[in-house]
Amino acid sequence: MLADQDRIFTNLYGTGDWVLEGARARGGWVDTKKFIDNGRDWIVNEVKGSGLRGRGGAGFPTALKWTFMPKEGVNDGRPSQLLVNADESEPGTCKDREILRHDPHHLIEGCLLAGRAMGAHIAYVYIRGEFIRERQNFEAAVQQAYDAKLIGKNNVHGWDFEIVVHHGAGAYICGEETALMESLEGKKGQPRLKPPFPAAMGVYGNPTTVNNVESIAVVPEILRRGGAWFGSFGRPNNTGTKLFMASGHVNKPAVFEDAMSCTFEELIEKHCGGIRGGWDNLLAVIPGGASCPVVRGEDMRTAIMDFDGLREKKSSFGTGGMIVLDKSADIIKAIWRIQAFFKHESCGQCTPCREGTGWMMRVMERMVEGRAQKREIDMLFDVTKQIEGHTICALGDAAAWPVQGLIRNFRDVIEARIDQYTWSSTSEGAVPSIAAE
Ligand SMILES: Cc1cc2nc3c(=O)[nH]c(=O)nc-3n(C[C@H](O)[C@H](O)[C@H](O)COP(=O)(O)O)c2cc1C
Repeated sequence: MLADQDRIFTNLYGTGDWVLEGARARGGWVDTKKFIDNGRDWIVNEVKGSGLRGRGGAGFPTALKWTFMPKEGVNDGRPSQLLVNADESEPGTCKDREILRHDPHHLIEGCLLAGRAMGAHIAYVYIRGEFIRERQNFEAAVQQAYDAKLIGKNNVHGWDFEIVVHHGAGAYICGEETALMESLEGKKGQPRLKPPFPAAMGVYGNPTTVNNVESIAVVPEILRRGGAWFGSFGRPNNTGTKLFMASGHVNKPAVFEDAMSCTFEELIEKHCGGIRGGWDNLLAVIPGGASCPVVRGEDMRTAIMDFDGLREKKSSFGTGGMIVLDKSADIIKAIWRIQAFFKHESCGQCTPCREGTGWMMRVMERMVEGRAQKREIDMLFDVTKQIEGHTICALGDAAAWPVQGLIRNFRDVIEARIDQYTWSSTSEGAVPSIAAE
C-alpha cells in the first residue's frame, strides 16, 4: 500500500491552495525545463519505464500511444495535437474532477511535457458539461500558467505551448475519443469509424493523441521521481499509483490514491472504513465504473485491484471506480438502472446499440418484477452478444457487459424472482409474451 510521501495528488481533497503558489509549494513545476531539454525520446522512455497504462478505462500503454504520432522532422506539415479527455461521465467515476479543481497544475504541466513527448505545441482539454466549478478552476490555473510564462509563446521552458479549454454540453458518448473530436469540432458527438486512427487523422484532420486527465497529470511526477519509482508500485503490467473511487454501501465513500494491485478488501478497509454492516453483508461490486461486469461479493473480497486481477474475475478494472452494493440492494434493479443510463446515452448511430440498449432495458424492467420466463434469461444473454463487438464504438460493449455480469453471477436471483411472480389471469394472461415487447 502507498506511503503518504509517495502520493502524487497531495491536494486531492482541496485542503491546500490549488493556485500556482500552492502547486509550487507542493513541488510542482520543478525541473520542467530540464525535462523539456532532455528531449522527446527521454520523456517517452521514462514513461515507458514507468509502465503507465491509460487511466481512462481501456488501459492502453501511454508511452506506446505517444510513439504513434509523427516523428520529429518527418511530419507532413500538419500540427501534432494532444487532446485531454476530461469528459468523465461514467457512473461511479469521479476522479478527474478532483484533479481539475484541486490539483490543476499537475494536468497543465503534464500537458506541456506530454506535448513535448509527441511533438505537439497545443493541447485541447475537453471538460464535461456539468463540471462548471471544475472548469472555472482549471481555466484560472491555465491563465496563471500563461501569466507566469510557464506555457504560451516564448515561455520559460523553451517549448511553445498553447492550452485550449473546451466545455462540453453533457453527453456520455462525447467521452469516446472520436465522438470527443467530433464534438470539439462543433459537430454532433458521434463516434468515427477507425481507421483512420487519431494519431493519423484526429481533431481538424491533424495527428492527435487522446489521453485521460489522470494519465497526463501523473507524468510530471513520473519524470521528477523516475519511471522506475512509479513502476515500483503494483505488479508487472499493472504498475503505478492510482486514483480509486468507492461509492455505494461502504462506510465512508471516497476518492483516494493508492498503489495498484492491492486487494479490494485492503483498499476498502484502509480508505472507506469497511463495508456497511460488515463484510458478510457485501452482495456485489461493480469494480471499475458502470460498464464493468458485476462481481459477487465473496469473489471480490480478495480480488486484486488492477487490470489483470479484474480480468481474472471476468470483469474489468476500468477507471478504478468501485460501486459497492450490500445485501439491501436489489441487484436486478441496479443493473436495470445502468441499462436505462446506456439506453439514454446511446448516440443512435449503430442499430445494435440503438435498438439493443432499449430492448435489454425493457426485458430487464420485467425481470425486476419477475414478470418474465426463464428462457428469456438466455435470450437476453444472446442479445448482449449481438451487441458486443458489433458497433462503431465501445458504448455497445459497455451496455452489454453489465447484463452479462448479472446473468453469469446472479442467475439464481433472477430465477427466484421469476418463481415468486404470480401471474394475474385477468391483466397479462397466464404466460408472459416476449412478442409483446
Ligand atoms: C462510451 C465511452 C465513453 C468514454 N468516456 C471516457 C471519459 O469520460 N474519459 C476518458 O478518459 N475516457 C473515456 N473513454 C475512453 C476513451 O475513448 C479513450 O480510450 C481514453 O480517453 C484514452 O485515454 P487513456 O489512454 O489515457 O486512458 C470512453 C470510451 C467510451 C467507449
